[in-house]
Amino acid sequence: MGIMDDLKKTAGKLVRKNILEAPFVQEMCRTTANMYRLGWDERNGGNISCLLDEKEVAEYLDLNEVIRTIPTGFDASALIGRIFIVTGTGKYFKNVEYDPETNLGIIRIAKDGTTAELLWGYKDGGRFTSELPAHLMSHISRLAIDPAHRVVMHSHPTYTIAMNTVCPIDEKEFTHRLWQSNTESIVVFPDGVGILPCMVCGTNEIGEATAEKMKKFRLVVWTNHGIYGTGRDMDEAFGLIETVEKTAQIYMLSLGHAVNVIPDEILKGLAKRFDVTPLEGVLK
Ligand code: 13P
Ligand code: ZN
Repeated sequence: MGIMDDLKKTAGKLVRKNILEAPFVQEMCRTTANMYRLGWDERNGGNISCLLDEKEVAEYLDLNEVIRTIPTGFDASALIGRIFIVTGTGKYFKNVEYDPETNLGIIRIAKDGTTAELLWGYKDGGRFTSELPAHLMSHISRLAIDPAHRVVMHSHPTYTIAMNTVCPIDEKEFTHRLWQSNTESIVVFPDGVGILPCMVCGTNEIGEATAEKMKKFRLVVWTNHGIYGTGRDMDEAFGLIETVEKTAQIYMLSLGHAVNVIPDEILKGLAKRFDVTPLEGVLK
C-alpha cells in the first residue's frame, strides 16, 4: 500500500468519533448501572440488546473491520446485516460503566444468518450473552409487529420472581393480579404479561418459546428466573419491567392482607380514560 493510501486510512480513522462517547454506549452504561443498583441484576444476572442504526454506528466504527466472528448456534436470517450492542456473557452489570469495551460488544449478523461479526468490544476475548437466542428471536418477533422496536432487556427483579413463585402460571390471572394492585399497571401494560414455565435458560428452546410469547406480549416472565421487557427504546423496556417490579412489590408486601384490590369497573375506567385496550379475557 502506498503512502497516500496510508494517509487516507489514517485520516479516515481520525474523523471517526470516539465510540465511548456514543449515545448508545453511554445509554447501555447508564441502564446497566441503574439495573444493578435497583437490585435487579446480581452478579452477571441480566442482559440487554439494542438494535442500532447502521449509519449512526458508522460515525464511530469502520464497518468493514470485523475483529472476529462468533457462531451463534441458531438461525437469525431475518436479521442479516443488522447491528446490535449486546452485554457480554458472565459480565457484571455493576462493571459495565467502568469498562464498556470489555463488558459490551457490537455485533452484526453475517450473511449466513448464524454468525455474529464482532465490530467492537468483548475486549478480553469474551462473547455475547448466553441468552442471545432469546434476544435475537424476540427482536424478530417484535420487529414483525412494530418496525420501530429496538430493545430487548432481561433482568432478575426480586419481587417479580417472588410473585411468580406464589401465583399460578396463568398469564391472564397473573396480569389481573398486577392490574388489581396498582392503577399504573393497566395503563403501562394493557397488553398484559406472558409467562413461560420453568425451563433451562441459555438455550435455543427457551429462545423460541420466548419469541413465540413476544408475538403477543412486550413482557414475558420466565418462571423462577426473571423477566423480559421490550420496547422502541431503552426507556420503554426499562419502564415496563420497572412497573411490573414495583407492582409485584406491592402485591408481595400485601400478600394475604389485601382488602382493597382495584375493582374491574375501575380498571375498565382507567383503560377508557388512558385510551388503552386491555388484554382480552382478563376483566370480568
Ligand atoms: P449471561 O451472563 O450469559 O448474560 O447470563 C445471565 C443471565 O441472566 C442468564 O439468564
Ligand atoms: Zn437470567
